[in-house]
Amino acid sequence: MQNFPSVFESIKDLNKSHIDGLLSLAGKFKGYAHDWQGLPIPFIKRPIIATSFLENSTRTKHSFAIAIKNLGATYIDFNADTSSLKKGESLEETLRTLHSQGVDLCIIRGNISNELSQFKGRAPIKIINGGDGTHQHPTQALLDLFTMIQIKMEISGKTIAIIGDTAHSRVGHSLLDLLPQYGAKIILCGPPECLPSAEEMSAYPNVTLSTDVDETIKQSDLLYLLRIQKERHSGKNVGYYETYPEDYGVSVERLRKHNKLIPVFHPGPANVGVEITRDLMDSPFYFGYEQVHNSIFMRMAIMQAVLQNADKNLGIQFAGRTIHDLI
Ligand code: NCD
Repeated sequence: MQNFPSVFESIKDLNKSHIDGLLSLAGKFKGYAHDWQGLPIPFIKRPIIATSFLENSTRTKHSFAIAIKNLGATYIDFNADTSSLKKGESLEETLRTLHSQGVDLCIIRGNISNELSQFKGRAPIKIINGGDGTHQHPTQALLDLFTMIQIKMEISGKTIAIIGDTAHSRVGHSLLDLLPQYGAKIILCGPPECLPSAEEMSAYPNVTLSTDVDETIKQSDLLYLLRIQKERHSGKNVGYYETYPEDYGVSVERLRKHNKLIPVFHPGPANVGVEITRDLMDSPFYFGYEQVHNSIFMRMAIMQAVLQNADKNLGIQFAGRTIHDLI
């Protein structure tokens, strides 16, 4: 995995050989899931890894925390709420400070889309995007792809429907950048307010838009459900929410009606009774828990790749300078 990005913000930052390398490394890590001590090489030499989450998270943050521990690294849970960020310090200054304290890598979640782009080419510290606003959630998409492969799905030529609020979903955006690279056709389905514009989608190969969930299910090989991202609608009318379960919600009954007993994925958190029914989550068609399980191995692989293969020339160097170096 040559030239892995120091700031891994988006699926677009990776080439196909990076992604293939991550899939293979995640598979290797999964093989040692019951014996981390048995990892054949010291994959990384006790680096220090911090998470900084400015938005809520159950899955992503804990998955990174567990993956960090499995790698034998030291974990710092940087509490953004009680940090100097709250005193007006910039994110850049905060990251420089963490780097000066010896932190090697920081996983960042925030509500500002594209916030991490500013650090590309001049990273104060190695960074992995844990989800930025509506923009990208690349580690989620990669673990989803890994899970599809783990459950022995042939992706090339298959149709994957992303049903829900793709327009406001960072997971949806990362999936759109990733899955077509593996030959998947994508249908984006949901109320018009939740779909990206056809113009926006014209840049994407193999993507079609639909507002008809039943037709979408009939044409699909896998369903990927997204919740309505109400918190990102900034006061806009979400009138369709009331009838969403009936219009777009997926249940075992709805799958049976179309004789489509196919895998259903969800990144969580799910709004049970809205986009998905409890009975579907308890059924063999639901793979949400496999996604969570596999997240550990994929995130171990991503952190390993960033630590080992990303450029080591970070913003600040500590080369033992003294006052005699001043001009
Ligand atoms: C998602 C997120 O935070 O973007 N959850 C996750 O990380 N597993 C999806 C969501 O909030 O809808």
